[in-house]
Amino acid sequence: MADLPTGFWSGWITVLTLVSVAGLIWLTLSIYFSKDAKESVQDHVWDEDLREGSNAPPLWWFWLLFASLVFSLIYLMLFPGLGSFPGYLNWSQGSRVAESYENYDLAFAEARADIAASSLASIQNDLQLMATAQRIFTRECAACHGPEGRGQANLFPNLLDVDWQWGSSAEQIEQSIRQGRSAVMIAWETVLGPDGLEDVANYVIQLAESGAPQDHAGRAAYEQNCTVCHGVDGAGNSLLGAPRLSDDIWLYGGDLDAIRHTLSEGRFGVMPAFESRLDDAQIKLLVALLAR
Ligand code: HEC
Ligand code: HEC
Repeated sequence: MADLPTGFWSGWITVLTLVSVAGLIWLTLSIYFSKDAKESVQDHVWDEDLREGSNAPPLWWFWLLFASLVFSLIYLMLFPGLGSFPGYLNWSQGSRVAESYENYDLAFAEARADIAASSLASIQNDLQLMATAQRIFTRECAACHGPEGRGQANLFPNLLDVDWQWGSSAEQIEQSIRQGRSAVMIAWETVLGPDGLEDVANYVIQLAESGAPQDHAGRAAYEQNCTVCHGVDGAGNSLLGAPRLSDDIWLYGGDLDAIRHTLSEGRFGVMPAFESRLDDAQIKLLVALLAR
């Protein structure tokens, strides 16, 4: 009721409404039951026998009008309508919404408890649950990860491939969804210098194609700056979200230009946290969908 007028304006609306209803009642009664109404004036006669008078309309109209006025008054007593008076039934749209949430919780509490108690494997074998999981994915995740989870635009990772930046176990995936992830890789331009950057970018390409090359101009700089997170052989580190560099799967692109860009600008991918947006059952369904 917060948006309803209170105080003066509420009183004003109440008075205006009641005065109008009273006026309408008076008007109706005066048409049907006043003295004048009975005495029809017969000054003019038109078209031989058509007389002008002021006879009241048929009486069943009166009952119709009377019934709708009574209905209005009862309605205004029961439901909100008179200023900020909530009505004797205390009905409101807000309470209706709360009620339907309660009904929803009651109706699905059991299904949720079932999901919470089942193992991931049994959820994965249940086609209906997996279809539900897919719907949640389409609604919540597809905008970024694509309708099938294959990633998009060299910005949002493919969730169906074998490469997991933050780990592929059910627990790690659950954490990615619940808490979100913020990847930090600083820009390397100032550290490496333009030539150094070029060398390291080439080194990364070789690393991906045929494993760590022994005598390469970029090797020393790579080992000095990159191994902490990406490992000597480029295997990556799921604790830091540092991706594997020694394969052909790239988040931001694996050609020389893309890698140059990654190194010169840095990369700061953010996966939003969904803990407060989804409930436990929904998160479990998503984990079952992704962890395979
Ligand atoms: C502090 C840890 C850390 C260090 C040190 C680091 N990186 Fe990274 N790197 C990351 C993280 C985290 C990401 C993922 C960024 C994202 O997801 O937005 C990443 C992403 C990348 C990517 C993009 C991979 C892809 O799939 O598109 C490349 C290439 C890369 N790093 C190369 C390097 C090189 C070369 C160095 C050394 C000069 C280096 N990194 C040093 C943490 C690090
Ligand atoms: C606003 C865009 C956005 C939405 C919406 C989003 N994600 Fe992400 N997600 C990302 C980005 C960006 C990353 C990569 C973060 C990084 O660079 O490390 C990511 C990473 C992930 C990862 C980690 C992948 C890995 O390789 O370890 C998982 C799992 C994931 N998302 C699942 C989901 C699920 C499930 C949903 C829906 C509930 C979802 N995401 C919704 C943007 C999004």
